[in-house]
Amino acid sequence: MSIKTYCALIFGALILAACGGESYTEVEITEQERSYRQLLGVPDHFSLPHIPEFNPPTIEKIDLGHFLFYDKQLSANQTQSCASCHVQELAFTDGQARPFGSTGDRLTRNSQGLGNAAYHATFTWSNDGFLNLEDQLAVPIRSDNPVELGVTEAKVDEVLARFDADPVYRKKFAAAYPEAESGATVTKIIYALASFCRTLISGSSPYDNYLLGDDSALTDQQKWGLQLFNGEKFECFHCHSGLNFSVSYRDNNSDPATQTFPFFNNGLYNVDGTGSYPQEDQGLYDLTQKLQHRGLFRPQCLRNVAVTAPYMHDGSIDTLREVLEHYARGGRKVETGIYQGDGRLSPLKSGLVRGFAATDDELDAVEAFLESLTDDAFISDPAFANPFE
Ligand code: HEC
Ligand code: HEC
Repeated sequence: MSIKTYCALIFGALILAACGGESYTEVEITEQERSYRQLLGVPDHFSLPHIPEFNPPTIEKIDLGHFLFYDKQLSANQTQSCASCHVQELAFTDGQARPFGSTGDRLTRNSQGLGNAAYHATFTWSNDGFLNLEDQLAVPIRSDNPVELGVTEAKVDEVLARFDADPVYRKKFAAAYPEAESGATVTKIIYALASFCRTLISGSSPYDNYLLGDDSALTDQQKWGLQLFNGEKFECFHCHSGLNFSVSYRDNNSDPATQTFPFFNNGLYNVDGTGSYPQEDQGLYDLTQKLQHRGLFRPQCLRNVAVTAPYMHDGSIDTLREVLEHYARGGRKVETGIYQGDGRLSPLKSGLVRGFAATDDELDAVEAFLESLTDDAFISDPAFANPFE
């Protein structure tokens, strides 16, 4: 929702309240929205992210989630926490192409940044069934293939008992869930972590300051890069637009009737000439088994992208410059090895990845613009830092 609509709603609600009209619920919704915005720290120029009704945020849940996020007791062998793969200074990525789980399993995918993740329409690099953060979080906690935190069926009681045995956590769980039976459960852990993740909002980059009227927040080169990014030659904005630079977007006012769940093949691979991706990860196809879904991934949020290398779902592109060259070529050519093939010729590649001739100066400008999305306040905000230190 735009700031204007937001103000209009509040204003309308005030009039209704003053007239003692029957639309009382509308007043309630607006007050609730205001309190959620404050709780999550949503900047004025952002909408409220989608929050499922079953998990309203509270200070206590966010606090519990913050501690759990950094606590290695949440892995079965106590060697890893969420923060092992989601490091604040790296906008909650980990600098690795593909991370290792707590027992040494190598994951097939690159750790995603969590800044503004709450605004995505679906979660993970490619899953059209994860529509709430809560759906996704069971995976790192519970998965046994590959193991991440390793809280498998065999280990779950042991892990929960750790929190029940700790007086500080007993208090925090009771405060976060005053109505529930006392004690830790996987659901309570997931709801608290989701609430904390919803507070990870990045909205004070130089680009934001520019949007808010500070013309000097971007250099001339960055402004040119922004124009190129949003122009028909580079075409980036068709898939990376809006507050999150991703057309996979949902906020609290998104209309379910028109909500979309977009996924694209951006020509990273063409292993067999018919558009296949490497066997171990073919994107949406792995869930749907529809051949035309090979290589479909969600356009990633580009905020803080300058600190989240390496890039793409498998971390197979090292630098932003190489990402730009990939798009300029209209797909990637893998020259050697078992995945060789020319992504530009893939029959499954999106028609929006067409390739274009760009000068070095133009590529420099788009790269400089992407650097303006780095939000130093976000990646150093003590509210998101390790609370045990
Ligand atoms: C071993 C590394 C690892 C650990 C530990 C881990 N993650 Fe992740 N995280 C990933 C990877 C890899 C992905 C992408 C998964 C995919 O696409 O299937 C991801 C994706 C996510 C997403 C989705 C983001 C988006 O934009 O859709 C969220 C949210 C998330 N992780 C939060 C957490 C939380 C909270 C924890 C702790 C309970 C956690 N992660 C533990 C590696 C990890
Ligand atoms: C057809 C839609 C589409 C277009 C057009 C597009 N992208 Fe993407 N972008 C994606 C998808 C999908 C991914 C994830 C692909 C994957 O991981 O396999 C992605 C990933 C990226 C990433 C990696 C993000 C990360 O954290 O790893 C960057 C950077 C990026 N795009 C920048 C751009 C730029 C710059 C342009 C314009 C030159 C552009 N994109 C055009 C869909 C698109």
